[in-house]
Amino acid sequence: GCNINAMMKVLVTGGAGYIGSHIVKALGERQYEIVVYDNLSYGHPGAVLYGRLIQGDLADQVLLHDVFRRERFDAVIHMSAFIVVDESIRDPLKYYRNNFVNALNLIETCLQYRVYACIFSSTAAVYGIPDKVPVTEDSPLLPINPYGASKVMVEQALHDVSISAPFRYISLRYFNVAGADRLTRIGQARKDATHLITVSLRTALGKNNYLDIFGTDYPTPDGTCIRDYIHVDDLADAHILALEYLRKGGGSAIYNCGYGHGASVQEVVNRVKYVTGIDFPVRYADRRPGDPPALIADASKIRKELGWTPKHDDLDYIIRTAWEWEKKITTTPQTHP
Ligand code: UFG
Repeated sequence: GCNINAMMKVLVTGGAGYIGSHIVKALGERQYEIVVYDNLSYGHPGAVLYGRLIQGDLADQVLLHDVFRRERFDAVIHMSAFIVVDESIRDPLKYYRNNFVNALNLIETCLQYRVYACIFSSTAAVYGIPDKVPVTEDSPLLPINPYGASKVMVEQALHDVSISAPFRYISLRYFNVAGADRLTRIGQARKDATHLITVSLRTALGKNNYLDIFGTDYPTPDGTCIRDYIHVDDLADAHILALEYLRKGGGSAIYNCGYGHGASVQEVVNRVKYVTGIDFPVRYADRRPGDPPALIADASKIRKELGWTPKHDDLDYIIRTAWEWEKKITTTPQTHP
């Protein structure tokens, strides 16, 4: 069309994954030109609703250079990474290689082809166990697992490169991302997902015999952990705003992405039972190692500086969209061919 965004061509690494596919959707709805680069280790071609998909790995520097030479990107959104905390403890080098070394390959290639705008998927895991919540962006970075450490290392590299080159970046630190597409086209498709809302919904569907609540003796009102759950479409909007901010000449920055309030594990389970209408069995289990008692974003910076205004700050909506998605992939397993 004649939209100004036709002028902007964006590379999205990991664009076939859960969060990446929602970002691609948000870009596509606004007429950006999109190239997705994804090794399909967890992503699905069917999740890419807009743009072109190139199946490739960031470790493949020949292909990466080829793609950058052929396409002329205005910006990169770097989403691809491994995300499972306890796997990162068991196999740290897997995380340092994919999340850190491969990010360096990408950043280096950006510099070589003069792609000077980058949005990076970071995480609240960079804060480790914060001593005060809501947590602001200037809180100390004290990751307690290799997953969080790998993200801190990329943030450090981005910062240093932004000093040495005309390169600018926005790092978005996601809190607990959940929910699915309003039209149920895309959602969390990993069979081995560990996230609370996905696991609860799959328990409601009878795929698990019970849901474990990990820890009931935390220093929180009901003893279970508190998290800031954010709908994936609101997170996708934050990426659009970050991209537009860089396009307009904005400088490098780091933003928390969360709603600024939390729900406990017990509260989430109660809402999942309410939304689904299914009273599935719950077991009160031991703490899971490495879980901070409470993780809540202070997101006033992104609201103020980028004008981010979330539309889905509603736990029931988050759960409802995820529930529709879970039912769809159960009854229609070919949803993501
Ligand atoms: N939980 C349960 N039972 C489950 C699954 C989770 O009780 O079956 C609890 C966890 O112990 C935790 C809370 O639910 O207290 C949320 O757990 P998730 O696994 O859904 O999410 P996390 O907060 O552990 O992790 C998320 C991202 C990570 C990221 C982290 C911090 O998945 O990638 O936030 O940003 F590192």
